[in-house]
Amino acid sequence: MERSEISDIAHQRHPIAAPVAPEQLRELVGWLSPSDGARAVDLGCGEGEWLQELLLTNPGITGVGIDQMVPTSAARRADERKLSDRVRWIETDAATWNDGVFDVVLCVGASHAFGRLEDMLGAVRRHLRPGGQALIGDSIWEGVPSASALAALEVSADAYPDLAGLVRAIHEHGFEPSYGHVSTLAEWDDYQFSWTGSLVDWAVREAWTTEDRDQAFAAARENRDAWLSGARRELGFATFVLHDAAVGVRD
Ligand SMILES: C[S@@+](CC[C@H](N)C(=O)[O-])C[C@H]1O[C@@H](n2cnc3c(N)ncnc32)[C@H](O)[C@@H]1O
Repeated sequence: MERSEISDIAHQRHPIAAPVAPEQLRELVGWLSPSDGARAVDLGCGEGEWLQELLLTNPGITGVGIDQMVPTSAARRADERKLSDRVRWIETDAATWNDGVFDVVLCVGASHAFGRLEDMLGAVRRHLRPGGQALIGDSIWEGVPSASALAALEVSADAYPDLAGLVRAIHEHGFEPSYGHVSTLAEWDDYQFSWTGSLVDWAVREAWTTEDRDQAFAAARENRDAWLSGARRELGFATFVLHDAAVGVRD
């Protein structure tokens, strides 16, 4: 199986590909206030749950979801939610794609598409019209990472900032954060065990070949081991609603 097939199976019960509960997603998106006619883009949209919630709560806007591989379930869910005529899914490299500026830019868990956090914030700024709003989510360290966390995640300590460092980087890119959310351990566990659980469930009940079944088991084990042997309680995730700090005042 391709890596993308494994990811699609792993996200079956948790289409938000981030440790964020659906009610927290709704709360965060509720802080965005696009006007009728606004255009939104979701960079590295995956299943597009953030974009779809924004379209559901703002019937006068349209959106574009960008991902190198958009799962078919994204369009299926949009169809079930009667959003198909207001959303376009584009399979391309988010780092090079360009279609002018948007009123709202979403980018959650996809900074690796651009390089590091700073590159993602730069991309969000490039795609955002002056005075627009953004919503970003990215990994943070909850404290100083241990050697076992670094080994489990195969990253160096400077791979992620801590929460204060994330807010500093946001400011350095000319944004003012408004509402923010730091994922709880319960949200992390739910995401991780849903990921591994969906793969194990699929392997036991739906795999057609021994090879596919073993591959699904192996992916689940690798993910679970990395989570339990180091990342848990050390890797964090924070999501912020951002405003253009250069926006003028109402007169
Ligand atoms: C962790 S998922 C987050 C998905 C979604 N934002 C969410 O929160 O549910 C990261 C997504 O980034 C996408 N991605 C990674 N590199 C990319 C690139 N260069 N261009 C477009 N999408 C990319 C992946 O395919 C994946 O869907």
